[in-house]
Amino acid sequence: MQELVYLNGWIGSFEDSFISVNDRGYNFGDGIYEVVRVYNGVPFAVVDHLERLENSAAAIEMTIPWSRVQLAMFTEDLLVQSGIKEAIIYIQISRGTAHRNHLYDPQINPNLLITVRQVPEIARDMYTDGVKIITQPEFRWQLCHIKSTSLLSSVLAKNRAAQAEAAEAVFVMEDGTVTECSASNIFIYSNKVLLTHPANNRILSGITRKYVLQAAHSLGINTREETFTSTDLLAADEVFFTNSVTEVVPVIKVDDHIIGSGAPGPVANQIHTGFITLRNAGV
Ligand code: PDD
Repeated sequence: MQELVYLNGWIGSFEDSFISVNDRGYNFGDGIYEVVRVYNGVPFAVVDHLERLENSAAAIEMTIPWSRVQLAMFTEDLLVQSGIKEAIIYIQISRGTAHRNHLYDPQINPNLLITVRQVPEIARDMYTDGVKIITQPEFRWQLCHIKSTSLLSSVLAKNRAAQAEAAEAVFVMEDGTVTECSASNIFIYSNKVLLTHPANNRILSGITRKYVLQAAHSLGINTREETFTSTDLLAADEVFFTNSVTEVVPVIKVDDHIIGSGAPGPVANQIHTGFITLRNAGV
């Protein structure tokens, strides 16, 4: 019996298996997976698992290049080679390997990983004595302040923006609050005040955002770290987004709505110049 790894057609041990640091699963959490239990050499409910895998792929706009039959065959072959009868099969498909970029090439080849391992020892007293659990607030997908590599939602938003020939996607909560963009912070300038979402769990507190606020202060521009809504966004005199790569980018259109005069505004321009002065001074 041997625990085994299948990686894009290669089969070997966990120790000998490697994948590129440019794998999108590694960089963005841009992938999907299934865990299947094997009883006495027979995978349980494998059709259900493969169906869910396909549904997950569709939900993240990924095309799986292998049929359900092929995936079942790769899995069965690996299981037989491993000789393990009581096993855990892990199937992971990441979007593929490419230089880090939220935008993906629709032609990218997914990476397929399948592993077969022994079922871990399960303490019997769990069933006889029962167990304790704890409560937690439902915080999944709500930890935007962590610069985490779990970027799947950002990847999807950024690619939807590209499909709409837009440079960014801005997130709007159910109550209309505008938080940030897929990979940038967002600012609006309205009634002579510069507004951006407060630095809490709803946004990543951008380094560019910090120095943009500092630049605005030095320019004597009124700033407030306060929530604003999508209605405020559309009615703003100016809108811009910020990040470490593109610095300060003026927004002239949100969906089909023209912002301000439909051209980059003077405040965004002034702030970008102020930001450049700050970063040239070195911090
Ligand atoms: N992203 N918000 C999100 C969700 C981001 O991913 C980023 C940056 C920012 C701006 O942060 P900063 O000003 O520190 O770059 C805000 C980087 C550029 C990326 O993921 O490539």
